[in-house]
Amino acid sequence: MRILSGIQPSGTLHLGNYFGMMRPAIELQDKGEAFYFIADYHSMTSLFDAAERRKNTLDVALDFLACGLDPKKSVFFRQSDVPEVTELSWLLSTVTPMGMLERATSYKDKIAKGIAPMHGLFAYPVLMAADILIYDSNLVPVGHDQKQHLEMTRDIAIKFNETYGETFILPEPQIRGETAKVPGIDGEKMSKSYGNTIEIFGDERTLRKKVMAIKMDSRQPADPKPDADQNLAVQLLKVIDADVGKDYEGKLRAGGLGYGDLKKTLFEVYWEHFAVARTKRAELAEHSDYVNAILKDGAAKARALAQKVLHRARRASGLE
Ligand code: ADP
Ligand code: TRP
Repeated sequence: MRILSGIQPSGTLHLGNYFGMMRPAIELQDKGEAFYFIADYHSMTSLFDAAERRKNTLDVALDFLACGLDPKKSVFFRQSDVPEVTELSWLLSTVTPMGMLERATSYKDKIAKGIAPMHGLFAYPVLMAADILIYDSNLVPVGHDQKQHLEMTRDIAIKFNETYGETFILPEPQIRGETAKVPGIDGEKMSKSYGNTIEIFGDERTLRKKVMAIKMDSRQPADPKPDADQNLAVQLLKVIDADVGKDYEGKLRAGGLGYGDLKKTLFEVYWEHFAVARTKRAELAEHSDYVNAILKDGAAKARALAQKVLHRARRASGLE
C-alpha cells in the first residue's frame, strides 16, 4: 500500500496540522510505503514572499522530522523537486470540468475572504490531484478540510481513465474522526489563515499567554457545568490527551474547577506533549545540511516513481 500526503510551507505549523495530518501520517509510516512532501508549489497560491517560502520550507522539514517522520521509513521531499507533477497537472486539467473547480469550497471561501482570484488558486485542486496520482497513491491521510479535494482527485482520475483507458489508481482519503477538525483558540477551525493557532513549536511565554487568553464564560468555579464537553479548553485537552481531557471534562461538569486552572493544565499537557520533539527539533536546526540531504534523497526516490507514472499517462494520451 502506498500512502501519500503533503503540507504547504505557508506558515508556522499548529496543533490542527499536527493532530489532523502529521501524526496520522507518521503513524502510517509502518503500514506501507509512505511518501510525504512539502507542497511548495501550492504555497505559491497564497504566499508571495520568496524568502519566507524558503524559510517555511526548512521549518516544515524540521517540524515534521522532529515530530517523528523517519526518513528511513518514509520518502520525504519537496514537491517542486519533482517538476514532473506540473506536467501531469496539465494533462489532468484537460479533462477537468470547469464546473467542478467552480464548486470547490476552499476556492470559494478564499475568494469570499477577499483573496484575489488567480488562476493558480483556481487550479489548485488539479495540481493536488497530480500530486496524488503521480505516485499511484492508495491512501491519503488529511484533515477534514481536504475531503473535497480528495473527491475531486478521484473524479479527475476517473475522467482520465474513461477518456484514455485505465491509467490511474483511485486513492482513498483517511480522515480521523476525533482529530479531523481541531478547534482554534477562538472556537473556529484552527488555521494559519485565521490567526487562531497554537503552534507546535515556539516560545514558551508567548504560547502560555495564548492559551491563558482563551475566552471562557463568566460562571463561577464552584458552578457545575453540564455543558463541559462544549468547553474549548476541554476539547483541546481531549485532542492532545483523551484520558486527561475526559478527566477534566468530568471535573468541570461536577463544579469546583476554575477556568484558570483548566487552562493551566491545558498548557502544561500541551507543552509536555512536545517536549521530546522540541529537543529533537533544536538539534536538527543545528544541522540543516543533514535535513537538506534527506529532502534531496527523498526527491530522487520520488522522482523515479513520478517519471514512471507520468510516462504511463503520456503514452495513454498519445503524447508518446
Ligand atoms: P491551514 O488551514 O492552517 O492553512 P493547511 O490547509 O496547510 O492548514 O493544512 C495542512 C494539513 O493539516 C491538511 O491535511 C489539513 O486537513 C490539516 N489541518 C489543518 N488545520 C486543521 C485542523 N484545524 N484540524 C484538523 N486538521 C487540520
Ligand atoms: N492541499 C493540502 C493542504 O492544504 C496540501 C496538499 C497538496 C496535499 N497536495 C497534496 C495533501 C496531496 C495531500 C495530498 O493541506
